[in-house]
Amino acid sequence: MSANNTIQLPNLSHYWMPFTANRQFKSMPRLFKAAKGNYFTSLDDRKILDGTAGLWCVPAGHGRNEIATAVGNQLLTLDYAPAFQSSHPLAFETAERLAAYMPTGLDRIFFTNSGSESADTALKIALAYHRVTGNPLRNKLIGRERGYHGVNFGGIAVGGIASNRKAFGNGLTGVDHIRHPLDIANNAFTKGMPADGGIALANEFEQRILTLHDPSTIAALIVEPMQGSAGVIVPPAGYLKRLREICTKHGILLIFDEVITGFGRLGTRWGSDYFEVIPDILTCAKGLTNGVVPMGAVSVKRELYDAFMENSAAGAIELPHGYTYSAIPIACAAAIATLDIFAQEKLEDRAAGLSSHFESCAHGLKGLPMVKDIRNIGLVAGIEFETIPNRLGAFAFAVYLKCYELGLHVRYTGDIIAISPPLTIEKHEIERIFSTLSDAIKFVASQGEAGLNANNYLKNEQDWAAISPR
Ligand SMILES: Cc1ncc(COP(=O)(O)O)c(C=O)c1O
Repeated sequence: MSANNTIQLPNLSHYWMPFTANRQFKSMPRLFKAAKGNYFTSLDDRKILDGTAGLWCVPAGHGRNEIATAVGNQLLTLDYAPAFQSSHPLAFETAERLAAYMPTGLDRIFFTNSGSESADTALKIALAYHRVTGNPLRNKLIGRERGYHGVNFGGIAVGGIASNRKAFGNGLTGVDHIRHPLDIANNAFTKGMPADGGIALANEFEQRILTLHDPSTIAALIVEPMQGSAGVIVPPAGYLKRLREICTKHGILLIFDEVITGFGRLGTRWGSDYFEVIPDILTCAKGLTNGVVPMGAVSVKRELYDAFMENSAAGAIELPHGYTYSAIPIACAAAIATLDIFAQEKLEDRAAGLSSHFESCAHGLKGLPMVKDIRNIGLVAGIEFETIPNRLGAFAFAVYLKCYELGLHVRYTGDIIAISPPLTIEKHEIERIFSTLSDAIKFVASQGEAGLNANNYLKNEQDWAAISPR
């Protein structure tokens, strides 16, 4: 590490950082200045292995020339075209390319700018679909406990993470939740999908929620095939298929939020492919442009799109919804370049091929102090720690800081560390991720109270902060 005085921090005062403990961060900032391949470069020139593909959004690795060139050229050719009542050819081409990448039948595409907008768009499409087909009383939305569908009002309503909801009022009405499938008491340290309990849990949807509300009032059920943000919750075998059957039986639209599970994360294009369940609506974002330009998409079954076209008055706007930046040219250019990379490098197959090595490295952490559960699927692993009484997340945060110090970026949420590297990761880098994590866990556990004190980490960055730029 270079503890030199030439490193200048920016003025940290003005930027209100998202989902960040601002005061804590600004007292010991962790800033990246460059990224290439599977590594970030920190402000003090350290190479930090990216164990999280950015925020799950850089499946093809950082700094891809193909994407940079496509975006740069597009900017200089057509920077913007109005998105409402006019468009540009690349928007249609991107939709066609994405439709071809989608699970069978989901070939009508609406573009957004993020996963949150995709979730709210999908919910609105579901409600409007029932209205346009003569069922306006089907207007309740069902989500799942510990679900994450972004931060907009629809998304937090159907989402099931209390801390994301409690500060923001009453939210949408007509929303309920099914239970999440995590069952550590019975399934701790399961590799891949838990074998048991899936059907019974899915049946609860019909037995409890649908009985309570009456199925004819429910517009849609939205779930992530694998719950990512709330700590890597892998569904038990048969569970999603049973949810599909129940939705079909009762005329309820099934929405898969594939913002994390899309683009090869599980070793298939989509979670839908992995679990062999086709939803009516699928949302994505993140990997769609390899994380470089904000873009999301909602794909719907052709029948849904057709219902809007056939049942709306001639000349009417069939769906009064959209964004100024829906399908902006540079996002389209980035998406097509990303899809090209996936086609050429077969990143889904690469992830599938690496997944058993990844799984055995992840489960190699079993038996370390504080490790309560390890869950994995594809190139995702969650390591859950025992919670120190009244200090939820303290241990995982300290492990995250120690990893950063040791040159590895991981993600922590509550007392869970999530690992989701770029799909371009190499075997030796997978080994390094988990050996570094092992060293960090052992270190933090060995330090007792001092190990939990953030001030004991990242000396260098604190030194920079002391330089005080302006
Ligand atoms: C399943 C899921 N849906 C939606 C979102 C929100 O995406 P964004 O942050 O792009 O709005 C996320 C983000 O992590 C996600 O994991």
